Amino acid sequence: MRKQVFQAEIYVWLLCLLLGSGCRAQEPPAVWPTPIGAATITLLPATPTLIPTPTPLPSPTPDTRSLGDPYIPELGNLGYDVQRYTLQLALDPDVVWVRGTAVLEAITTTPLSELSLDFVGFTVTGVWWETTPASFTRSDAKLIITLPEPASAALPFRLTIAYEGAPAPTTSPHATFADSLGFVFGGQQTVYTLAEPDGARAWFPCNDHPRDKALFRFEVTTPLPYTAVANGQLHATLPADAGQQTFIWEHNYPMATYLALVAVGVYERLDDVSPGGIPLRHYIFPEARAEFEPVAATTAVAIDWMSDLFGPYPFEAFGLVMVDGLSLAMETQTMVLVSPELLGKKTAVHELAHMWFGNWVSLDSWSEMWRKEGLATYIELLWRFRDDAAGLEAEMANITSGITTNSRQFSLAAPPPAYLFDYNIYYKGAALLHALRQEMGDEAFFAGLRVYVQSYGGRAASDAQFRAVMEAAVGRSLAPFFAQWLG
Ligand code: TRP
Ligand code: ZN
Repeated sequence: MRKQVFQAEIYVWLLCLLLGSGCRAQEPPAVWPTPIGAATITLLPATPTLIPTPTPLPSPTPDTRSLGDPYIPELGNLGYDVQRYTLQLALDPDVVWVRGTAVLEAITTTPLSELSLDFVGFTVTGVWWETTPASFTRSDAKLIITLPEPASAALPFRLTIAYEGAPAPTTSPHATFADSLGFVFGGQQTVYTLAEPDGARAWFPCNDHPRDKALFRFEVTTPLPYTAVANGQLHATLPADAGQQTFIWEHNYPMATYLALVAVGVYERLDDVSPGGIPLRHYIFPEARAEFEPVAATTAVAIDWMSDLFGPYPFEAFGLVMVDGLSLAMETQTMVLVSPELLGKKTAVHELAHMWFGNWVSLDSWSEMWRKEGLATYIELLWRFRDDAAGLEAEMANITSGITTNSRQFSLAAPPPAYLFDYNIYYKGAALLHALRQEMGDEAFFAGLRVYVQSYGGRAASDAQFRAVMEAAVGRSLAPFFAQWLG
């Protein structure tokens, strides 16, 4: 019975992810949804087909307009390191138009005469290097800025980019379930941002890769009665022009660009604190209050439980914000985005686990998606079966049979682009971690995870670094294990 219920949950969850809006968690579809394309469903073939893995490109140098992630080589640049983004935005859920100013405080890593940022859409109305206007061109998804004079290495600088326009639909070859990344003018009078993995550039100019994390400040102006929500802490609410307010949010912890969030809607704020003292603040649709209560209660207990298991909660606060328009949940740092269709304890626990795994410790390459999604999925299961070891074993056996019989066989270490958020990334990733725990023993496994968080928190870690930490924790090579699972 439990097995059936769980499988139904996976199906519905995946279908929601793949088909988008209007999906409610009631009836499981009888067949597997395909990961490619939006609305086609195929029957499970008897024999799994092997999906070829793309050949990685060589790592680029700073002037090639790439940060060097072979999986999505067009992202980022190596010529500078962003320290802080200040994003000033005027947003009105009722008017599909955005006015923004992005201020980047950064430092050059090499001598530069031009620099490139990732940015898609909008009209750029001005660029300033410090206070001097700078000329710029746009080429594909890059904003290329000519510096008024060449900059030496290790030079701190401030760059200001002003932009406006209606957001252009921006799809991602990876997040095929989303119609567009960037700003979404959703239902119930909300506007919010979606970015994973390559869509932060569709809402602000940035060095769009988790290897370059930065602090963030948001100054969002919106008409009454809307509330603007972002990452971190609400610093101030200021009166702006007639009938408008500016919400200032600050997040003073390193954050990857894809985890930045702005959401505007008519919200009720719920303040809480976990038994262990972690501040919680949620922004919900007022009519969802009763439904939200058990989610808030679980969040408060689960955040302490995870802090005990993996080390102290890494940020200043935590909470969820509701949005409408697509069935989705996203681990935006300190302020998880969730739509009413996916609102539930399972979602809250999964996204909460990402605060440690994926957010505080980032991926070094997008090809390593299994590590953050596998960990979040496994932790979600550890929570669900925290008092039921036999139940966890049964669930893992169930999951393992699902991953060995489904049609989507590919190397976890090299997912084809459209499979980056495939079922197997989540559940074969979780199965890998469960097998690793059995291989290492409980003590070494959990000690290893704590060392991993402590060693790489605030930074990015690669699969090789993860493996090295786990090998140190168990005191022997795990090469055969990882060769078997990631080969
Ligand atoms: N990381 C999300 C999760 O684990 C899934 C996701 C990927 C996503 N890309 C997205 C959600 C874009 C919303 C928008 O739940
Ligand atoms: Zn996840």
